[in-house]
Formats: sequence, C-alpha cells, structure tokens
Amino acid sequence: VQTELLRVNPVHPEAEAIARAAEVLRSGRLVAFPTETVYGLGANALDAAAVARIFAAKERPAANPVIVHVPDAAAVRSLVTAWPESAERLAARFWPGPLTLILPRSTAIPDIVTAGGPTVAIRVPAHPVARALLEQAGVPIAAPSANRASRLSPTLAAHVLGDLDGRIDLLLDGGPTSGGVESTVLDLSGATPCLLRPGLVSPAQLEAVVGPVTRRATIGSGTDPLPSPGMMARHYAPQTPVECLLPAAVQKRIAELAAQGMRVGWLAFPAEPTPAAAGVRRVTMPNLAAAYAACLYAVLHDLDAAGLERIIVTLPPEGDDWLMIHDRLARASAT
Ligand code: TXA
Ligand code: MG
Repeated sequence: VQTELLRVNPVHPEAEAIARAAEVLRSGRLVAFPTETVYGLGANALDAAAVARIFAAKERPAANPVIVHVPDAAAVRSLVTAWPESAERLAARFWPGPLTLILPRSTAIPDIVTAGGPTVAIRVPAHPVARALLEQAGVPIAAPSANRASRLSPTLAAHVLGDLDGRIDLLLDGGPTSGGVESTVLDLSGATPCLLRPGLVSPAQLEAVVGPVTRRATIGSGTDPLPSPGMMARHYAPQTPVECLLPAAVQKRIAELAAQGMRVGWLAFPAEPTPAAAGVRRVTMPNLAAAYAACLYAVLHDLDAAGLERIIVTLPPEGDDWLMIHDRLARASAT
C-alpha cells in the first residue's frame, strides 16, 4: 500500500486530518498516530480482520497480544467482565496517561487482540491526537507500538516510516512523543496487582494508590513461563550490538574496543570524562530518569543509523524511577 502522511498539530490537531484518519480506521485500515509514550499502530479493535493487518505489517508473532486504547474509563466496561476497585482507583489517578491495565476480557474483544488469552490490556492515552482520533473513530483502537516486531519503538514519525513505510495506510505526524518509553503494564486479573512492564508510572506511584504490587522479573529467565508474551527478552532492540556496563567498567571497555579499531557509540552521564580513544561517539544523557526516557529511543535510533559497530551504555543508578530504563536497556542488549 501507499502510506499517506498527514502532519497534525500535536496540541490542537486539525479536525480534517483527524476525520480522515478516523475514516481510514473505520474502514478496517491501519493508522499510525502519536501517543504520549511512543507512536502506536492502530486498527479498529472490534474488527478482527483489521487487527490481523497490524500483525502482518509488524510481522508480530500471533502469541503477542495488543493494547486496546479507549477514550475514558467508562468505555472499558463493555470490554471487560470485571472492573475491580483497584482499577477504579488507578484509572481515576492515572488516566488519561501511560498506564495499561490487564483485566478479564468480555466477548466484545476478538481473539486476535488477546492472542486467545482470557485477559485484555487497556489504556486511555493522554496525547491530544490519540484522544481526538478515539473520539472521532467511535471505536476502541487496538495499537501496539508502530515498529516491526522486536525493533525499537518509534518516538518520531520518521522512525515509523523507517520500519513501516508501504505497510500501513496512514501516518499522523504529530512530532516527537514526550514520554519516550512504553506505558507501564499492570495485571489486575489476579489476587494482587502484578507489574508486567515498568514504565513512566513507577511502582511507588502505583503502590501509593493500590498497595503492594508484585514486581515480576521483567526479563524472561528462560525457565519460568512468561506472563506477558512481550516480555521475551530481546525486544526494543537496535541492530547494533549494545553492551550495558557499570560506570567503573566503561572507560576500559571503550579503550579496548577502540584499540580493535571499532567505531563505538556511548550513552554517557554528564559527570563521566570522555576517553582519549578515537572513533567514540559520545551522547551525554540526562541525570533524571524521565528525561532519560524521553530521549532514549531517539538516541538509539540515531546511533543505530550511524553505522557503528557497538553501542556502550553506562548503566544508570538503581532505584524505582530508573526501573523502566534498566528494563529497556536489558532488552536492548539481550542476545
Ligand atoms: O505505551 C504503550 O503502551 C504503547 C502505545 C502505542 O500505547 N503501546 C505498546 O504496545 O507498547 P506493545 O504492543 O508494543 O506492547 C504491549 C505490551 C506487550 O508487552 C504485550 O505482551 C502486553 O502489553 N500485553 C498486551 N495484552 C496483554 C495481556 N492480555 N496480558 C498480558 N500482557 C499483555
Ligand atoms: Mg512494542
């Protein structure tokens, strides 16, 4: 297919562009659009054939379910068979925003959306373009990140085109997304809430609202079954091999690689000195986790396009705020 590209104002999206995108969605076709986390690849969530096009365009394994986006908490009721008190409180506090809740699905949701499973992932996005599109389309929108399977998520329209040009019908270009990493995924279908994917809503923020949250190891150990298929280790990965190192090990490793004649990219922190070695492309990352998240994928996309042989990342500090970054870096460097 020919991919149509429409620019939209990210704060006050033009009614015409939104109407066009809503029409494409309602006709069973694919629309990529910005959310406050990353760009999503949307289809009418109630139309199994339309959702099948998402899987084809992304080359996504059929076992990996997709998130359903709705305009508000009221729109969730017909899609689930339970709406626990915890969901009510979390929705009131964090929606619209980067939190996805896993709940028991109703029969309104086609099998392909949930990969045949008994639960459905739902979120209410905050981005004005996503909100306008949901309102105009009048249907829930199934939307995984708008990248080919296991590649980096897109934070710019150019990233979407790089992976999906000619595979999707329409792309709404609303400029860079602000959050930078994918939503927090929290499973509410069991006895206690379980964190399946760390994101911009931190565990501490969740626990302040619902009490203790089980923190699953987010990288598959290879022995335990993965509760979320998207938790398979290698995911969100650039094509260039990535090595994550503790601060004390970074300088020596870079010197070693440079001595072998390798061109190396480096995600550094401001306080780190630049090694003398030639051929090192340093990117100084922010000291704050949210700011780091906002630029992480764009930096990795850029370094990946630069034809380097290795990307070195200085590991951030431990701690709640940095959990989402550790998770994404571990996946980017998994082999
Ligand atoms: O920020 C985001 O969440 C972005 C934007 C576009 O909304 N979407 C996104 O979707 O990251 P995707 O498909 O790339 O990641 C969805 C994650 C996957 O890890 C998937 O396995 C998990 O959510 N998931 C979806 N449905 C699930 C379910 N029923 N049970 C457990 N995990 C589920
Ligand atoms: Mg994804």
